[in-house]
Amino acid sequence: MIRLICRENDNDIEFMKKISAQGEWSTRLAFIFAATGSAVGLGNIWKFPYITGENGGGAFVLVYLLCIALIGVPIMMAEILLGRRGRQSPINTMRDLAKEAGAKPYWRWLGWLGVIAGFLILSYYSVIAGWAMAYFVRVSTGVFEGATADGVSSIFGQFVADPEKLLAWHSLFMIMTMLVVARGVKGLERAVRFLMPALLVLLLLLVVYAMEQGDFAQALNFLFSADFSKITSESILTAMGHAFFTLSLGMGAIMVYGSYLPDKVSIGSTTLIIALADTAVALLAGLAIFPLVFANGLEPSSGPGLIFQTLPIAFGHMDYGSVFGGLFFLLLVFAAWSSSISLIEPAVAWLVENKNMSRMRACILSGTTTWLLGIGTVLSFNLTADVRLFDKTFFDLLDYLTANIMLPLGGLCIALFVGWVMSRDDSMAELKMKRPLAYGIWIFLLKYISPTAVLIVFLNVIGII
Ligand code: PHE
Repeated sequence: MIRLICRENDNDIEFMKKISAQGEWSTRLAFIFAATGSAVGLGNIWKFPYITGENGGGAFVLVYLLCIALIGVPIMMAEILLGRRGRQSPINTMRDLAKEAGAKPYWRWLGWLGVIAGFLILSYYSVIAGWAMAYFVRVSTGVFEGATADGVSSIFGQFVADPEKLLAWHSLFMIMTMLVVARGVKGLERAVRFLMPALLVLLLLLVVYAMEQGDFAQALNFLFSADFSKITSESILTAMGHAFFTLSLGMGAIMVYGSYLPDKVSIGSTTLIIALADTAVALLAGLAIFPLVFANGLEPSSGPGLIFQTLPIAFGHMDYGSVFGGLFFLLLVFAAWSSSISLIEPAVAWLVENKNMSRMRACILSGTTTWLLGIGTVLSFNLTADVRLFDKTFFDLLDYLTANIMLPLGGLCIALFVGWVMSRDDSMAELKMKRPLAYGIWIFLLKYISPTAVLIVFLNVIGII
């Protein structure tokens, strides 16, 4: 139901009860599930373990955790706040809030940056989610029963070498994403409610298995003892970029979800819950995967294939492995699904608002564009694997550009806007924090710490400092 949408009337803008044209979450819990559904995804279970493996373990994990606490959490609060105050797609929200604050309309480009980042991320995200779907089928049909580490690796190698298979799974996943998005906020809400708790339970089960069967001590040592000699400016950028990626920040996904958030919900405590849940899932994934990596003599730095080359070994040897394994990959698909819908939602919301399109048409248009882009990633694992730009394949390049550059840049602008452009009264009113100290800490982090940290990391990588 559309109640009252923000009108372009300067004087009235902040006094009206605004509700997004797309609807509203039914409860606070619905928002928590949806935002956690967006945050928890391939980033936690697929990407976090492999980039931790590539970047040497403990010290990287520590930098990542610091980035979550000092940059991610304050910016997430800012992004939700913007969304709820604007109550529209990120592009229109930024345009109106800039106007409200008496700033230049160029801030709407922040919304555009996010829409483009969303397309680019979803284009490869969907390909990897397709891998998870394919593995759901393989594991549950017992393909890996009794398999050795070598056998599992070679199955993975053959799989990604086949562009047609990857394309088919990528297409299926894109269709699934479009179907949910077309149904609007309620569709999103229903989908994530049961999936997140189920994923958590299964992950815990896997950790227990890894504890018993894998080299748990070495994994703990790898993940939590920091050796700073392994840290480079690039790995700090990766850790920071991943903090944005894993919390879905810097591209409008959380902003657009915030625009469906009822007025009375407290943004601060809700953000903390989401960030903690997201971090817990990533660490649990690490604790499930690395004991198996070490026990089977695999390379922690084997890249994007890491979970597909480790977990099937475990499933191939445990009792009822094909059931548990099937379930695990199924839930991974669901986790990816609930993230992918948020990647495309900013674009869809804008098309509906500005181009007068039905949600269905908007979904088809943005979904097809993303699908086409995804073909580039499909091929980068096989036919064009040798084509490199800046020493990176198409997939690596997209991943680097989005996670390490576009998301932190978007986050930086969000911090600058809320910290420096928006009035204190407005941010205070929207956050509704009861304790002045909590507000003080947040605004200090947002104004000074987060932007400086992002800038230092950027300048450091370019070699200026
Ligand atoms: N946070 C998601 C994950 O970890 C990915 C994502 C990034 C989703 C940006 C939305 C926006 O898998």
